[in-house]
Amino acid sequence: MSTARRLRIPGIAYGGDYNPEQWPEETWAEDTRLMREAGVTMVSVGIFSWALLEPSEGEYDFSRLDRILDLLHENGIAADLATPTACPPAWFFRAYPEALPVDRDGRRLSYGSRQTFCPSSPAYRRAALRIAKALADRYAAHPAVAMWHIHNEYGCHNAACYCDTSAAAFRTWLRTRYEDDLDALNRAWGTTFWSQWYYDWDEIIPPRATGAVPNPTHQLDWRRFCSDELLSLCTAERDVLHRAAPDIPATTNLMVLRTFDALDYWRWAPELDILSNDHYLMSDDPEAEIDIALSGDLMRSLAGGPWFLMEHSTGAVNWQQVNRAKRPGEMRRNALAHVAHGADGIAFFQWRASKAGAEQWHSAMLPHAGTDSQIWRDVVQLGADLRALAEVRGSSVSADVAIVWDWDARWALELPAQPSGELRYQDLVRDWYAPLWRAGVAVDFVRPGEPGLDRYKLVLAPSLYLVTEAAAANLARFTERGGTLAIGFHSGVVDENGHVFLGGYPGAFRDLLGVVTDELFPLLPGETAGLSGEVPTGATADLWSERVRLTGAQTVASYADGPLAGHPAVTRHHHGDGTAWYLATHPDQDTLATLLHHVRREAGVTPEHEAPAGIEVVRRRGTEADYLFLIDHAGKGAEAPADGVELLTGTPITGTVTIPPGGVAVVREPR
Ligand code: GAL
Repeated sequence: MSTARRLRIPGIAYGGDYNPEQWPEETWAEDTRLMREAGVTMVSVGIFSWALLEPSEGEYDFSRLDRILDLLHENGIAADLATPTACPPAWFFRAYPEALPVDRDGRRLSYGSRQTFCPSSPAYRRAALRIAKALADRYAAHPAVAMWHIHNEYGCHNAACYCDTSAAAFRTWLRTRYEDDLDALNRAWGTTFWSQWYYDWDEIIPPRATGAVPNPTHQLDWRRFCSDELLSLCTAERDVLHRAAPDIPATTNLMVLRTFDALDYWRWAPELDILSNDHYLMSDDPEAEIDIALSGDLMRSLAGGPWFLMEHSTGAVNWQQVNRAKRPGEMRRNALAHVAHGADGIAFFQWRASKAGAEQWHSAMLPHAGTDSQIWRDVVQLGADLRALAEVRGSSVSADVAIVWDWDARWALELPAQPSGELRYQDLVRDWYAPLWRAGVAVDFVRPGEPGLDRYKLVLAPSLYLVTEAAAANLARFTERGGTLAIGFHSGVVDENGHVFLGGYPGAFRDLLGVVTDELFPLLPGETAGLSGEVPTGATADLWSERVRLTGAQTVASYADGPLAGHPAVTRHHHGDGTAWYLATHPDQDTLATLLHHVRREAGVTPEHEAPAGIEVVRRRGTEADYLFLIDHAGKGAEAPADGVELLTGTPITGTVTIPPGGVAVVREPR
């Protein structure tokens, strides 16, 4: 939250989505009383209230929202006031049926849920900006309003619409990208193949359902367009809000989640005053705590400092096959882990569990059972914890390691008709992130072309299938100047249009890595290859292999069996004053951890702190003190060396701090 427009509430903000429209007004007084009891300082209001705020086109009824905001203010609770634009009312779609989105198969969807609108619809844009302006004009000076919450999770349900209006918008976007040069588009898309050449801009349509594989660059540009199209809605609303209230920060809740990849948040981040994230656990993820850490580090990197956790859950969600409740202490560990990775605000979906409606089975801060419940007791405890951590606000993590993260590379890797359909970008990145997380090594995320990489000792690019020449040169420069770089398999293979760099893989990185690959040998599901060399005994690899020839690099590990027996699988190359490693396969987790340990040692990167296995370690650095977070995920409790004050208990620490089983310790370490 480093921008000029700052959140003016103190400490670590605490709260959730507040949807009191669902309840009779008598309930509201109980809500605010209980919010005070739990230490809630800010709630998000009005997110889905369009139908109530604008009962018919251009006619507003703000009376209920007036009372809600006044009540919050009387109780000292700030409002993160939302534009309700994620859910246009039924009257809107009856008046403008063309604003309903069309899916890939050409089906026009219906209203009756939420976020079912075409992002390119002029009628939607007009209506959304009109209600945003009415809301902003009315509440810009309301003392409760501390932040604007633009829309809700852009693209969550309507990341792409394939209607004719979207097609026209796509063509406009393409004309800008290709500077009105249709031949340039044809070249970029490789349309001489399969008779796809376009003679007229009007021939171009969205990548609708086709009988065979659609053109890959067409799809890539479509994804870029869809992200930009939603961003333009977001910035248009932001501008309306800023005009009415120049000092109030605006945010929108992003979703840096395994399951969502529609938006290029590197392009979104600079447009927002405060970055917020929504994070939910997947029931089938046995180590969801790694996902929390990874998404927190990515958010901190996008934000360039602290950020805001806009939503997570106190217990089960309602949108997975089986919705797992949280284990004892898990909610507290989750929330405090988000703080450890840079969150300066912690909030939930939602304040009071719904009795009716689509999310009646989603957990909340105040469950159906009421206050005589474990969740409520945990919510009150968390409020106290966050109060105890107030001084942590504004501090941030500093890292010697950067992991390259790129949405273009992610989209391109997961296109159809690739050498392997088994590669999942986020899994590949997480595989490399996990051993660093386990070792307590702080990590930032960077764009491939990020300037100033010299501030890191080590840069890792676990998966960079698509890379621009400029970005590849940026990574090479980092190595030439003495940095240590490690690159994962099947990286540097295609350019920004998805065209293969010829002359052998990994084209853009061949010189840097001192290797050349003439053929790819992806492994079948369940198939493995043995590895030998500087790897643990019995090391194996799966998913991927390729026939690598050395052109300057040394072999660190080779295949012990299979069609590539004797060929290099992991290499190391002196380049300029630095070193570039190539992990040309997907080693098993222990082997990968061992290799990354070598890489890290060579780069001179050390863990943040000594801590026993099972304890997550993160340090936020402030101006007067540092804050050492120790989180026990193993459930056994532990002791770790520390000096200072344990903030959650207020206990002075000399020499050793105790982390209770399944618990958390946060030590203020004086400078
Ligand atoms: C989010 C959404 C919330 C709520 C939540 C449930 O995607 O923003 O409104 O639906 O999921 O997990």
